[in-house]
Amino acid sequence: AIDISAFRAQSGVITLDRGFKNTGSCESAITFLDGEKGILRYRGYPIEQLADNSTFLEVAYLLIYGELPNKATFDKFAGDITHHTLVNEDIKKILDGFPSAAHPMGVLSSLITAQTAFYPNSLDPNRSKEETELSIIRLLAKMPTFAAWAYKKKVGHPVIYPNNKMDYCGNFLNMMFSLPADEYEIDPVVAKALDKLLILHADHEQNCSASTVRIVGSSQASLWASISAGINALWGPLHGGANQAVIEMLENIKADGGDTKKWMGKAKDKDDPFRLMGFGHRVYKNFDPRAKIIKKAADDVLEKLGVHDPVLDIAKGLEEEALKDQYFVDRKLYPNVDFYSGIIYRALGIPTDMFTVMFALGRLPGWIAQWKEMKEMGEPIGRPRQVYTGENARDYMNMGKR
Ligand code: ACO
Repeated sequence: AIDISAFRAQSGVITLDRGFKNTGSCESAITFLDGEKGILRYRGYPIEQLADNSTFLEVAYLLIYGELPNKATFDKFAGDITHHTLVNEDIKKILDGFPSAAHPMGVLSSLITAQTAFYPNSLDPNRSKEETELSIIRLLAKMPTFAAWAYKKKVGHPVIYPNNKMDYCGNFLNMMFSLPADEYEIDPVVAKALDKLLILHADHEQNCSASTVRIVGSSQASLWASISAGINALWGPLHGGANQAVIEMLENIKADGGDTKKWMGKAKDKDDPFRLMGFGHRVYKNFDPRAKIIKKAADDVLEKLGVHDPVLDIAKGLEEEALKDQYFVDRKLYPNVDFYSGIIYRALGIPTDMFTVMFALGRLPGWIAQWKEMKEMGEPIGRPRQVYTGENARDYMNMGKR
């Protein structure tokens, strides 16, 4: 048997970069991010301009195809998506099989994977360009239907079918909140706020879920399988699941009497596993430009809807404390995109365990763009190396002798 130290000597140099803090995994032309200056651009367009002037579907087109669409191209894109919103009736049987306690993120990723059974052509690694395009359109079209149905399962209400006379966000809100006996009236303030949130979440270069989508896709797994994996990666509280964790944390602080200083202390205590959820970011070391836009949007939306949410005051209090606190200043910990998004979702009537599903809805075009770029660049299969630290070679011993 070969000795480990001899093996190490033979196998050359392997860089070890836990968490890929300083390792690029690809070249990409989709999203530019400067963490020091707090700059975020999709295909060169500043996030602030897109949030103010664009729509989610237009941004989806921009991310996936690289340019802003003209009217004819956009109408075709939006029309194709509208055409595919309906899902196979048998999906309802799969949905029925889940207990109502199922977390909507688990339901969503399962339903997305289940689509491979309905579209077996999408599994062919040598599928045509048209087949891939069809998968892209189907995904964008059906994701709101799956997301809303995951919620209906949770609350035990009958599902509402898509309405193709409505736009993307309106249709989603209708499927979430309408009941067969009581049609939900779409408030334009709510629909606009949702559209803006989806734009802000639409891509963020090589984060945990986008890297997952790329690495799963690099094995020639289908787009559906890759996106489903991305949804699962997003679910964790250190990534997209933070938006749910933030509201739960703010609620806990409120129930505990609202003493923000006490909770700041817990976050700084290295013996306490508590972290201030919604603070810190791997790349942003100055401010998260999305958080700036969302904080203002939260103020606007709550004012327009006439909602006073006491957790917003707690959130602002925590932010003010953190800006003055040496621990947070030294570590460059600022509110991230998830810190205020939950407060808006709540004002829009979206329940807490749907927050990360909302993130997934927004992030979908980014995942698709990342997957498509990876394919078009002919990236090799993603396969990191390791530094082995286990036992040296040893002989098997029968159970009786152990
Ligand atoms: N509260 C308290 N301390 C923190 C926090 C926090 N939220 N975030 C980081 N720190 C501290 C760490 O303890 C560490 O301290 P040390 O240097 O004394 O050991 C230092 O800041 C650096 O933190 P790391 O965990 O090494 O930073 P990393 O880049 O690996 O993690 C992350 C980034 C995961 C976002 C982290 O800041 C965190 O856990 N934040 C809370 C969860 C969250 O909001 N996630 C959403 C991120 S945005 C998104 O995914 C959409």
